[in-house]
Amino acid sequence: MAIPSPVEPCDFTVFGGTGDLALRKLLPALYLRDRDGQLPDGFRVIGVSRHTADDDAYRAMVRDALTQHVSSADLDEAAVARLLARLHHVELDVEDVGAWHLLHARLKEGAASEDVIRVFYLAVAPGLFGTICEHLDEVGLATERSRVVLEKPMGSDLATARRVNEAVGRVFEESNIFRIDHYLGKESVQNLLVTRFANTFLEPLWNSHWVDHVQITAAESLGVGERGSYYDRSGALRDMVQNHLLQLLCLVAMEPPTYVDRETVRDEKLKVLQALRPMTPELVDRDVVAGQYAAGLCDGAPAKAYVDEVGQPSDTETFVALRTEVQNWRWAGVPFYLRTGKRLPERVSEIVVVFKEPPHAMFPHSEGPTEPNRLHIRVQPDEGMRLHMTAKEPGPGGIRLRPVSLDLSYAAAFGARSPDAYERLLMDVVRGNPTLFMRRDEVEAAWAWVAPILDRWSQPTHRPRRYPAGTNGPVAAATLLERDGRSWQETE
Ligand code: BG6
Repeated sequence: MAIPSPVEPCDFTVFGGTGDLALRKLLPALYLRDRDGQLPDGFRVIGVSRHTADDDAYRAMVRDALTQHVSSADLDEAAVARLLARLHHVELDVEDVGAWHLLHARLKEGAASEDVIRVFYLAVAPGLFGTICEHLDEVGLATERSRVVLEKPMGSDLATARRVNEAVGRVFEESNIFRIDHYLGKESVQNLLVTRFANTFLEPLWNSHWVDHVQITAAESLGVGERGSYYDRSGALRDMVQNHLLQLLCLVAMEPPTYVDRETVRDEKLKVLQALRPMTPELVDRDVVAGQYAAGLCDGAPAKAYVDEVGQPSDTETFVALRTEVQNWRWAGVPFYLRTGKRLPERVSEIVVVFKEPPHAMFPHSEGPTEPNRLHIRVQPDEGMRLHMTAKEPGPGGIRLRPVSLDLSYAAAFGARSPDAYERLLMDVVRGNPTLFMRRDEVEAAWAWVAPILDRWSQPTHRPRRYPAGTNGPVAAATLLERDGRSWQETE
């Protein structure tokens, strides 16, 4: 969104440097930015972990990770060697107070300059965020030129999120705190803002006069896999709804800011979160559906039940569907339906804006159906947009109506590889642009909104409804819309 500024040399330190996120996402993202010539000389990447590994061992580990997680078409030996040469490993138990001077010494040694930009990416459990920040401060690494990146989960409810924010905020200024929601780095999500605000034709229709309802779906076909121990404490509401889905909702519903900068977009998103209809226990029971996958068939193969994957009885939800409203002038009375789940038939994230029927039926029904216009914004895979409209079927004689679609496929229109969300977001951190990161007030407003759901679901009587793996979730999710005379738009 902002015009990219040149990248200054930086010491990019990843706590959790040998962990899954670092190896699967962060280092491949840095590799691709480096391959495309965006990392200047003097840019170093320092992996911090409790592993005993010298720089060479770490480089070997990262080389393996790149081979696994970067497509072979994007692997270039010279570029791999260039990234590996930037890599260092520091063994550190972050709770060992006496060991921090080592990190300080390693960072000073060979730094591009005294006041090099320092990024500290905390890809570790949120319980360690406060401790790490305090120690960074004690050893003099938390300066005005230092930035800290927090990975989700940002707490597990409002109280814990506040504690994390306070602990980090005691050390870093808000402008140097980057809370990642990787959905905001996705090309198609950023394009949502451009589509809405760089074109004129949508804006007059983008309100309760013309929009019947909005659906936001983030479906996955995978189960929880190896992440069971984290996921079982989290569940889909905390893992996906509180952050990714609410962020998408904000971008659909927000007002146009006067211009795009680090605060204006976030100010507008915050107003949407504050305008969400507050949940009450009655609304939770009526408008929020929790589900958990049972054994079934997914992607053509037998899939285990969630409880068998995590190896214990559990009432954690792997599916959520809910109905809410944005209580402001633009959206009064328009339902927003959100849905996310694991072990659904396919991986697809999509926003569907369903418009109202034409106000007057000029063509008799016998000439064919007039379906309401729908705009499908495909976040992934196959990013693009599809506008469903009604057209005349070609041919002589009477007029026959037929549904057709206007399609925009990013791949066809632009051809280029869509960069991974982390590529964009990591470079924004290095450049110091927090526009696509969540501000403290946003995170807390989102937690405040989900709090009544968490509360209600903490009752011993709460049980998620089971759904067979490979299906669209519990029947109650369909009923949620049928009750309003609507239905989910399944992928086409
Ligand atoms: C993460 C969640 O934030 O997003 C995961 O913790 C989920 O459970 C993932 O699988 C989905 O991301 P994407 O980019 O694959 O839609």
